Amino acid sequence: MAMASSAYAPAGGVGAHARPGRPRFIQHKKEAFWFYRFLSIVYDHVINPGHWTEDMRDDALQPADLYSRKLRVVDVGGGTGFTTLGIVKHVDPENVTLLDQSPHQLEKAKQKDALKGVTIMEGDAEDLPFPTDTFDRYVSAGSIEYWPDPQRGIKEAYRVLRIGGVACLIGPVYPTFWLSRFFADMWMLFPKEEEYIEWFKRAGFKDVKLKRIGPKWYRGVRRHGLIMGCSVTGVKREHGDSPLQLGPKAEDVSKPVNPITFLFRFLMGTICAAYYVLVPIYMWIKDQIVPKGMPI
Ligand SMILES: C[S@@+](CC[C@H](N)C(=O)[O-])C[C@H]1O[C@@H](n2cnc3c(N)ncnc32)[C@H](O)[C@@H]1O
Repeated sequence: MAMASSAYAPAGGVGAHARPGRPRFIQHKKEAFWFYRFLSIVYDHVINPGHWTEDMRDDALQPADLYSRKLRVVDVGGGTGFTTLGIVKHVDPENVTLLDQSPHQLEKAKQKDALKGVTIMEGDAEDLPFPTDTFDRYVSAGSIEYWPDPQRGIKEAYRVLRIGGVACLIGPVYPTFWLSRFFADMWMLFPKEEEYIEWFKRAGFKDVKLKRIGPKWYRGVRRHGLIMGCSVTGVKREHGDSPLQLGPKAEDVSKPVNPITFLFRFLMGTICAAYYVLVPIYMWIKDQIVPKGMPI
């Protein structure tokens, strides 16, 4: 199994440097690839009911301002197409491109009738296979947490947008409760709200805004962090590439790594991810028990 030796160095980007030393076992491309090799089988049945409901999706996409069926939209890390389904409510499928690094996730998207006409392709969020100044909207939901260098992915969002185009990035938020923080740090990247804003501004976006989202039954509770916790938007202000200059990519996926190390990281990361399957169930039980109108 060929994997990046650099995959186990601390991940790049502002947030990673702000909180160094977190293992983040699944925050690398090869690990994410294998994680979704298996999760894709049950993704639509496990992730959506617990973490990423249709209500949340529509709420999160609202700042993307999908006002015309003619807009050209790219959905990066689009996976099985759950967010793309929200996009094609507003935009003609022929104008939409869904990109993901996991062929297994994309296979599920290809089976969805509502996505017929959407261009579905493999690719890397940190190195998008599109010319500069291509799209009116860039959407990415729940993918940034796997990017080894989130700043690079957001710089790419800026590059592929046309002037005046909007990037809408939906992602997790960092927990404040100690146990949730522990599992979040072991699993993947849970950025802080201010980190998102800083990444967007550094990439060159103007009018950067952050909207909080979450499942209804959490009653606004955010201490455990949320796998889908905010929708961040920014507007591209000038033609061409982002003004931000970055060095070489943090991760070279073509270099081999020790398969034992990989397996250990992968298993540890998957175990920690299981905690976040339990949190929404715990919150749902609390919502059922605690009288309506009271904090939980
Ligand atoms: C939690 S899923 C979200 C899928 C979809 N956006 C949704 O709303 O349901 C995360 C997706 O990001 C993809 N992904 C992770 N790292 C990526 C990368 N570097 N480039 C492209 N896709 C990536 C994974 O393969 C996975 O399909």
